Amino acid sequence: MIKKCPYNLAACLALLLSLSACNDKTEPLATTPAAQQTPDSESPRQPTLLDQNWRFMKYATTDDADDLIYDVRPEVDSFKDDKDADSKPTEAVEINTSSEVLKPWILPMANDFIRDPAKHHTRPPGSPGSDFPFVQDDFDDSQWQQVDIPHDWAIAGPFMGGDDAEVGGGMGRLPSHGVAWYRKKLTFSQDDLDKQLYLDIDAAMSYAMVWFNGHLVGGWPYGYNSWRVDLTPYAQAGDNNQLAIRVDNPPKSSRWYPGGGLYRNVWLTKTNPVHVANWGTYITTPQVSHQQAKVELEIRLKNSADTDTKIETQTDIFEINTHDDITSDVIASINTPAQTLAANSKARVNGSVTINNPKLWGPKPAQTPHRYVAVTKIKQGDKTLDQYQTHFGIRDIRLDPEKGVFVNGEHVYLQGVNQHHDLGALGAAFNVRAAQRQLGMLQELGSNAIRIAHNPPAVELLELTDKMGFLVIDEIYDSWERKKTPLDFHLIFPEWHEADLRAFIRRDRNYPSVMMWSVGNEVGEQYTGEEGAAIARELFNISKDEDPTRPVAASMNYAKPDMALPPVMDSISLNYQGEGIRNAPAYAHLQGIKTAPLYPAFHEKFPDKTIFSSENAAALSTRGEYLFPVTDGISAPVADGKGGDPLNAHVSAYELYTAPFGSSADKVLASLAKHPYVAGGFVWSGWDYLGEPTPYYSARSSYFGIIDLAGFKKDRFYLYQAAWRPDLPMAHILPHWNWPERVGEVTPVHVFTSGDEAELFLNGESLGRKTKAQYDYRLRWDDVVYQPGELKVVAYKNGQQWATDSIKTTGAASAIKLSADRAGINADGKDLTFITAKVTDSNGLTVPTAKQLIRYSLDGPGEIVATDNGDPRSMVSFKSHNRKVFNGLGLVIVKAKRDQQGRIRLTATAEGLQSSSIDIVIQ
Ligand code: GAL
Repeated sequence: MIKKCPYNLAACLALLLSLSACNDKTEPLATTPAAQQTPDSESPRQPTLLDQNWRFMKYATTDDADDLIYDVRPEVDSFKDDKDADSKPTEAVEINTSSEVLKPWILPMANDFIRDPAKHHTRPPGSPGSDFPFVQDDFDDSQWQQVDIPHDWAIAGPFMGGDDAEVGGGMGRLPSHGVAWYRKKLTFSQDDLDKQLYLDIDAAMSYAMVWFNGHLVGGWPYGYNSWRVDLTPYAQAGDNNQLAIRVDNPPKSSRWYPGGGLYRNVWLTKTNPVHVANWGTYITTPQVSHQQAKVELEIRLKNSADTDTKIETQTDIFEINTHDDITSDVIASINTPAQTLAANSKARVNGSVTINNPKLWGPKPAQTPHRYVAVTKIKQGDKTLDQYQTHFGIRDIRLDPEKGVFVNGEHVYLQGVNQHHDLGALGAAFNVRAAQRQLGMLQELGSNAIRIAHNPPAVELLELTDKMGFLVIDEIYDSWERKKTPLDFHLIFPEWHEADLRAFIRRDRNYPSVMMWSVGNEVGEQYTGEEGAAIARELFNISKDEDPTRPVAASMNYAKPDMALPPVMDSISLNYQGEGIRNAPAYAHLQGIKTAPLYPAFHEKFPDKTIFSSENAAALSTRGEYLFPVTDGISAPVADGKGGDPLNAHVSAYELYTAPFGSSADKVLASLAKHPYVAGGFVWSGWDYLGEPTPYYSARSSYFGIIDLAGFKKDRFYLYQAAWRPDLPMAHILPHWNWPERVGEVTPVHVFTSGDEAELFLNGESLGRKTKAQYDYRLRWDDVVYQPGELKVVAYKNGQQWATDSIKTTGAASAIKLSADRAGINADGKDLTFITAKVTDSNGLTVPTAKQLIRYSLDGPGEIVATDNGDPRSMVSFKSHNRKVFNGLGLVIVKAKRDQQGRIRLTATAEGLQSSSIDIVIQ
């Protein structure tokens, strides 16, 4: 948000530009992954989204569940989920059991991703579970819940409050654990039986196992990876093909909210027996300039038929727009000569082409994220056996240990944030529009880079980062062999790491936005010397084998320059260590690992490696809650009474308080500025997320975000915007100015501005003009004595007036005002509008302390999907239509019913307030 009009011409221009950027961001973007798009109805490849009409059943408790288990898990007696994130991960517990488990039937799924044939798994005979009722076609599931996919079974709640809740604050107090089944009927024609029939699961949380027409056909334990099972051998003509998927999500398995179930897309992909394999293209651009680019293509082919087939491939390259529409003639083609694909075999073919005057992909705002599509056809004479699309970009990314990241020869300083996978009140169920909204606000903030923490994202997210022009660190693991929570990924690491890592890279390596692979976050192997480094080396080598073009890193919050892990990786990714951990005087009394600022030591020891701050800050705040007194330093650990209110579980929004190992934004930005060889950094975190409510684990969502869970900006938003968009005229005052109980008391006023000086006025009287010193990121008037009225700031840049902001003491709450981020939405059952409810006084000013209970109701062919208010402590189900506003603001997420036309009216009412309605057009 831009406050008030600027004064000079340059400033006006910048403002206009930024406003047009804002309009652009609300445009809905289609994001079907390329391989799943049908370019024309004649295409022999037919992907179908299986998003509707599933039946779902979750057992009340795990004790009630069937015993079709993947593996036996260790018993967990006690577990404290409120550990500081920098606690040392511990060793795995060994389990010995003679119980019957299904793992041996699932492990062969990994074979396609295990390089050494000697390590391939052999499927035992038989098909466990075949006689189990839920996998039978005649089982009556009519009493099961009918659901659409993506589906997150846990997000509706109820929240589990209290100290001894089954799921604590760490995992978001929501029932994501447990065993559940999904069932669906599939229809095949007689012709389909000559095809390859694949079920493509974009992710299932977790330990999924699939039965098809009574046969156990496969599964995948890691809940964030994508995978494919072959249904071909058991398909029958008709509509009675029974799919049954069992998911078993362990408790105490995550440091954040994982969600539960089929929470991303599921596709049925039909191909000819001769086809491009899963994630079967790999496009690289080894030479790039504005004049010319070389495009190299590798295609993996698969012949599942019992006959040899003579084929050739033809790949045409076109330009595409942000809606994935082709916007050019054929730009270039890569054809490979005829060859015979032996029966039941796989093969790889390669080709390359030079493109003149390529339109390069580059991150916004300085560059434009142009994209291309490669349309690959497998031809048998005149016949097209398969048609497969790959979206890609032409770009060159180079790392310079002294200067940082260069994209297409231009320096790009990383202004990044870390993002978890959940979408707030929508939970883990992926939704393109919700993710686009998150990224859009991050772009408004000035962010140009995302680190995906700490697991493979939805593919549609990478389609968005490609289209919107973000750089991405794509990260796969939060743990290797050592565990952070008792039942986390370490349980499957030994058997699955190679398959998981190869599958992850094969899926994601064509996205131009992905600039680096991260194979681990703060793993326990930082502590285990050479033993840990050996694992790191293996993961590094696997990554290079799959994609030699990108650097590989692992984020380190403990490893020091002389330890075994750092030399293994291409670059140095530091979490918190760059600016130092518990090293400032305000942190001196804390227990825990203390680390001096380490950028210089790493730079000196590894002069050839580029340093990234892969996580920094871990600053905390509750939007709109200001606590007194205010620390006079620039960074302090939160403590009860010092930035923290334990009774209400609030952290002060003065934006100076942090986790014990963290540093405020001010301290981090100063530290980065003092070490210009560091490529930039990634703030922990961009948005608040479900789980990890440091420091108050009685809550259910985090305090780390620059933006709260509902999507409302915290004050910190403006601190970063001032630093990251220095040409955008803006000024922002905090706190609010409604303090009837503080009349006559000192109430510090802080200002974030992209200007370099500012003068503050209280009720027209100047409180002085202040100048930012080098490495200052805020202006502070710490001795203001509160009087109601108006606070106004006038900011200057280079001596010229630059921006203003003002806030007023409001009157009593009198009305609700609704506004929607989009006035029209599609009736595709997925598109969303995010409606903000503000409680205002009679002059229309938002009352910053308002907490009224609002009742939302909807008329017309739509649905309230969820409500929120950004309060980390709220235990009201996200599905509730009644919710208090939190510090003046509430959020309602609305969608249209599928295939309906007309208008939706949302109405908000509250006792004592004038109600409000808003109309949304269904397009
Ligand atoms: C880091 C960790 C993140 C998150 C963050 C804030 O140490 O990598 O996943 O936990 O701390 O607590």
